[in-house]
Amino acid sequence: MAFTFFFRDRHTLNHLVNFLKQDLERQDTIRIWDAGCAMGQEPYTLSILFAEALNSDEFKRIKIEATDIDEQGNYGEVIQKGIYPLDQLSRLPDGILEKYFVKYDGANNYKLIVQILNSLEYQQHNLLEYQAIGQNFDAVVCKNVLLHFQFPDQVKAVNMFFDSLKVGGYLVTEQTQALPAELLHRYEKIITDANIFRKIQ
Ligand SMILES: C[S@@+](CC[C@H](N)C(=O)[O-])C[C@H]1O[C@@H](n2cnc3c(N)ncnc32)[C@H](O)[C@@H]1O
Repeated sequence: MAFTFFFRDRHTLNHLVNFLKQDLERQDTIRIWDAGCAMGQEPYTLSILFAEALNSDEFKRIKIEATDIDEQGNYGEVIQKGIYPLDQLSRLPDGILEKYFVKYDGANNYKLIVQILNSLEYQQHNLLEYQAIGQNFDAVVCKNVLLHFQFPDQVKAVNMFFDSLKVGGYLVTEQTQALPAELLHRYEKIITDANIFRKIQ
């Protein structure tokens, strides 16, 4: 099972939400591709952060498309149901469990509320086939995935993300992932304390 957890690197995701909240004032919808989403912990965290930052009408205009290679083919079912054991929810900030999850059964499982479930669409997808799932995304989040790729594959993946972003859209990686030097001219780093890069025309 992929190593991840709810609210991992909340700091970076919060910055992204704040940038996209400003963009939402100028456009109808915000579309985000979360590439390498594991069993939904990261994209659902993003969704919860949006729910915290936006009113309910604004929140309905956020669409997250989550993908993973999902080698066992079972992530889709977990993500669709949105049921997680309590021990995977131990790092939630105060108040989040009560606000966004309901107790599902007697076995300490909790289910995400429908508003959060509905903000996400999932599909199985292999990044190493270099076929983007769409274009004109406002953001691509790809965290703790590229480090597993050979360097030439990292370059091709970051190029694919560039093509799938709208001009001004954001690429988000984990703090330790450097962008390949030959692609730096295609992005500008927009904040010092997180890896958020804006696509340059
Ligand atoms: C360490 S997890 C990262 C999960 C989450 N993004 C995070 O930062 O916590 C890495 C994920 O990348 C996925 N992955 C690995 N190779 C992939 C590929 N070629 N295409 C799509 N996803 C891939 C794995 O299945 C796994 O779920």
